[in-house]
Amino acid sequence: MPIIAPSILTADFLHLERDCGMLDKSRADWFHLDVMDGRFVPNISFGMSVIKQIRKTSDKFFDVHLMILEPEKYVDEFKDAGANNLTVHFEACPHLHRNIQQIKSLGMSAGVAINPATPVLMLQDIIKDIDVALVMSVNPGFGGQSFIPQSIQKIKELRTLINNSGSSSKIEVDGGVSLKNAAELIKAGADVLVTGNAVFSASDPANIIAQLKAL
Ligand code: DX5
Ligand code: ZN
Repeated sequence: MPIIAPSILTADFLHLERDCGMLDKSRADWFHLDVMDGRFVPNISFGMSVIKQIRKTSDKFFDVHLMILEPEKYVDEFKDAGANNLTVHFEACPHLHRNIQQIKSLGMSAGVAINPATPVLMLQDIIKDIDVALVMSVNPGFGGQSFIPQSIQKIKELRTLINNSGSSSKIEVDGGVSLKNAAELIKAGADVLVTGNAVFSASDPANIIAQLKAL
């Protein structure tokens, strides 16, 4: 069964407690928390103080997706805010191996995300060190964008890389995921489905989550 990780980026921020409570009671496995700095990506979202508040609403696994430059400056603070996994971007980290070791040394799992234009091959030398490999299926920065179809091929390539290397990394896919493409993504090798708009624009979000979980 896939791991379902709704992104609260598209939640109603005036009613965050209500929406997070809904996720907590739903069949969602992880909370996906998108942190944006207005530098690595052309948008600013929220940071550790908001995550700390959200932590009060659920004991579920907090998957924090850092779309920021210099993530090493904030790793401790995200840990304190309640993160269970920190995913950094390949494109933002010249010292990626060091970043991964830092995250793991604090007892969190570590992920690396690749943008749509970054080849899967770039993960070859780090794949055995990471817990999550995240394929961005939109350009990071905003919820509600259209899924980029070539991402399916990248998931297949990543599945082959992981199998051949003996890595136990999960494959996460993020951006434009919905009931329309989820089955194909799982078939291609995805373990974790991030969904923002598809869940929060629905009249019954918990029902969409349950349907995704049943795939
Ligand atoms: C985009 C974020 C995604 C986003 C997904 O930069 O990383 O997690 O919230 O939202 P949807 O599912 O609407 O594309
Ligand atoms: Zn994300």
